[in-house]
Amino acid sequence: MRTLLLAVAMVMFAGVGALALHPQGAVQPDTSAITPAMVELGRAIFHGQGTCFACHGQKLEGTQIAPTLRPHAWRDAKNGEFSEIYRVATHGVPSTLMVAYPGGITPAQAMAVASYVWSVGKGKAKP
Ligand code: HEC
Repeated sequence: MRTLLLAVAMVMFAGVGALALHPQGAVQPDTSAITPAMVELGRAIFHGQGTCFACHGQKLEGTQIAPTLRPHAWRDAKNGEFSEIYRVATHGVPSTLMVAYPGGITPAQAMAVASYVWSVGKGKAKP
């Protein structure tokens, strides 16, 4: 189990590196560098440390507190683009309950959780 987790973590950080070091940078990240392992890690963070589920719902269906993150008319994260979702996760939405780095997640964890939300938002992964 420990070995498996380590392997997942290594794949994950390789993926993050590819995303972060992509020549076009944050403007237009290469979303093809998002691996299933990153999406799974992001899923765990969404439902764990990031506490995203508490406001956005267990199935990303939204609650009275916060909007759905499934395919919808995005309000803050323009067009549901990866870079926009990452920006919201790391900068928050001023004057709302959406804070920067919810749950005290790290930038790498924000990258993984953004991969998960982006994949669900584009219908590429189950909520
Ligand atoms: C305490 C409640 C709360 C938590 C926890 C929270 N959010 Fe939010 N989030 C909000 C609210 C409220 C908004 C809508 C802000 C507004 O009024 O525009 C929002 C908006 C967003 C949006 C933009 C949606 C759109 O339509 O553009 C994204 C993306 C998002 N959150 C992702 C996350 C992620 C990822 C996490 C966990 C790392 C998270 N949120 C944790 C309350 C929360």
